[in-house]
Amino acid sequence: MSKDGIKIADDYTGYALSHFCVPRHYEDDLENVLIPWGLIQDRTERLARDIFLDIRDEPLTALCVLKGGYRFYTDLLDKLTTLNRFHASVSVQLHVDFIRLKSYENDDSTGDIRVIGGDNLSNLRGQNVLVVEDIIDTGRTMSRLLAILQKHEPKSVKVASLLVKRRPDSTGYRPDYCGFEVPDKFVVGYALDYNEYFRDLNHICVINDTGKAKYKIQQNSH
Ligand code: HPA
Ligand code: MG
Repeated sequence: MSKDGIKIADDYTGYALSHFCVPRHYEDDLENVLIPWGLIQDRTERLARDIFLDIRDEPLTALCVLKGGYRFYTDLLDKLTTLNRFHASVSVQLHVDFIRLKSYENDDSTGDIRVIGGDNLSNLRGQNVLVVEDIIDTGRTMSRLLAILQKHEPKSVKVASLLVKRRPDSTGYRPDYCGFEVPDKFVVGYALDYNEYFRDLNHICVINDTGKAKYKIQQNSH
């Protein structure tokens, strides 16, 4: 089985917004639809099947990296539970957990992260853990998270990321399961945000300059 996702070329222009339903409040803020919601579903279905057949009859702790991973996580788990309902011979018991990652403030040089929320990570000891993430960018965050998780001695750790971005400064990290490999553009929708906006958009879209300007964080002015 290939670890690579569906490759979306750098010059791919996606679909016109006018061909799909996009919330009125975002209509002016997007360049194109890069990955329609339906295609995300179809690809996620296959990832679920790959995961199901790899794990086979062992329990799995699915760890959602919030907030960006929440939609991919719920859809992936829906598809895994469907497989469990229909397979008489293979079954994967699922446990769910949710974490958020915070970077240490005022310490940008190290780029260290801290895990907040979720159950105590010591519960992961001896478990098969599947980390579910929205996007691998440079790969640095995921490598740091994996180092933190390994300290708790899980039986295994695998990573499913809906997207992997082709970045010139990538560390070369590749997830075990990848939905799509995308160009180095800022994408939003399907829970991926730009300053907390666009999570309420079904399709994965490329943000345009209007959108970036509109939802830019205003530097406070006192
Ligand atoms: N979109 C949203 N979040 C992200 C991205 C992106 O393109 N890259 C890294 N985090
Ligand atoms: Mg993320």
